[in-house]
Amino acid sequence: MSGMPPVLWHQAEGFLVRDPYGNQWIDLTSGIVLANAGHAHPRIVAAIRESIDQRLLATYAFPSESRLKLLEKLVSLAPMPDPKAILFSSGTEATECALMLMRRHGQQIHRDKVGILSLAGNYHGRTLAAQLAGGKPTGTDWIERDQVRHFQIPAPDCNYCPWGKPAYENCGADCFHSGLLSLSDRGVDHRQIAGLILEPVPGWTTAPIPADFARAAVEWARQHQVMVAFDEIQCGCGRTGKFFGGEHLGISPDLLVLGKGLSSSLPVSAVIGRREILDQPQPGDMSSSHGGNPVCAAAALANLQVLEDERLIEASASTGAAVLERLRGLQRDFSQSIRAVQGVGLFISVHLRRPGTDEPDVELADEVAQAAVRRGVLMFTTGRGYLKFTPPLCIDLDAALEAADVIRECLTERIHPQ
Ligand SMILES: Cc1ncc(COP(=O)(O)O)c(C=O)c1O
Repeated sequence: MSGMPPVLWHQAEGFLVRDPYGNQWIDLTSGIVLANAGHAHPRIVAAIRESIDQRLLATYAFPSESRLKLLEKLVSLAPMPDPKAILFSSGTEATECALMLMRRHGQQIHRDKVGILSLAGNYHGRTLAAQLAGGKPTGTDWIERDQVRHFQIPAPDCNYCPWGKPAYENCGADCFHSGLLSLSDRGVDHRQIAGLILEPVPGWTTAPIPADFARAAVEWARQHQVMVAFDEIQCGCGRTGKFFGGEHLGISPDLLVLGKGLSSSLPVSAVIGRREILDQPQPGDMSSSHGGNPVCAAAALANLQVLEDERLIEASASTGAAVLERLRGLQRDFSQSIRAVQGVGLFISVHLRRPGTDEPDVELADEVAQAAVRRGVLMFTTGRGYLKFTPPLCIDLDAALEAADVIRECLTERIHPQ
């Protein structure tokens, strides 16, 4: 757990993080893109306290009132017909459940239809099946994907087009089909694929994948009885200025996975999907000791209410638009070193490159993040050559713009405007 700037977290409140020595930071991390409603929101704290005072700390799979209410709320938000939902603790656990449900569904069609397709470079969690779905090349080189029928095609990252095009030219559908062709070239029979999982707004690009890519993927999936799961663990719950990141694509998947910003605090995650898909396993086959823990469920319920009552999703869209404009000014001034500034809502990233090349400038990005921390703006290092701007959605516009200006100062100290 090393590699982050050395700040000793003592208290986190709203969009501020404090250490025990009297220092405080504007938080651009939201923990790890988690505290959407703000850190320690008073209504979330009160809901947790109330739940503790009631003296109900764990219920396993037995029903509890807070779990029931949270499930009802999630089902009311679900974009698909006749939805059901199930709760877990970590995001990874929920991803695993979605992967399992897609494999089960495929197996009912024929025995070998258990393959999962995903996009290279996405992130879905840390357990084996989740790592199979995602993965930085360096972190997952120990995995033999094809042996467990887990296949990846290139992600439609238009900054670094996998097919070498200089810019996006309404080529999303071609991009998806080229990926499929590359699978066929590797000898993969598409009929083996049971499910497709992807982040509709990936955490490392913070920009919605091209809608034409998503449409082509979903059309192909429908034709081949392949389930589609959207991993909304990072981009969901208002982060992108819409409740679900997938709303930017205008597409409703078969399964949705939520986590992180679902509670803005304690560990709770969820899978939402069509009833017939969630009802496939036998009772007891999908349980988890801590899934839907009553205290965590109470926190999540309060969080969803805060997002609505305080109009934080709208705030994400409007504050995010102002920050994006400010950071695009930076891109104009440092055009040699900034490849792209992109994002939706308060899900923004600045992609740095080595001048004169298209290679990500990992060192510069991590240096800027470290320097910002010394100036009172908490950022994380990404190790992938980009800066991530993901504060709690309740951040004041002034504080958000101040943080953007601190990034400019840190960059100016290191390189001259070009
Ligand atoms: C898109 C996405 N999926 C899955 C996960 C895994 O969630 P967790 O760390 O809660 O297991 C993350 C966490 O960063 C994520 O960003």
